[in-house]
Amino acid sequence: MRGLAELARLAREARERAHAPYSGFKVGAALRAKTGEIVLGCNIENASYGLTLCAERVAVFKAVSEGFREFDAIAVCADAPHLTPPCGPCRQILWEFCGDIPVRMVDLKGHARTMRLSKLLPFPFDDRHL
Ligand code: THU
Repeated sequence: MRGLAELARLAREARERAHAPYSGFKVGAALRAKTGEIVLGCNIENASYGLTLCAERVAVFKAVSEGFREFDAIAVCADAPHLTPPCGPCRQILWEFCGDIPVRMVDLKGHARTMRLSKLLPFPFDDRHL
């Protein structure tokens, strides 16, 4: 099974396919299914700004629509002065399908940090509360 370093490399490749003409902020994501398959995502912006999709959610929705349901890691790659964590809504979507996975954040300069999703989203709302 491919490790976090390979996931980060794939997230970097996915980032190149981002459609981000409005923000200029390109993001890539690589999501690993428990079966070992890796599904990629990039942010996709729109002239109607609010329709923008984040790289992480694109990866999750692609993967779920392809039949994958369980995941054990994600890498996110951006190029900014500080490492880019998933936004709040993406944390919630990741929690739904991934639970407490490691989130590897990387940039183009080689900076990297891994945090568990439960650190990024403490006290999450999920099906246990319904
Ligand atoms: N974005 C992502 O794709 N993922 C993140 O983790 C943070 C933000 C995108 C959304 C938008 O296209 C651009 O980055 C600037 O917010």
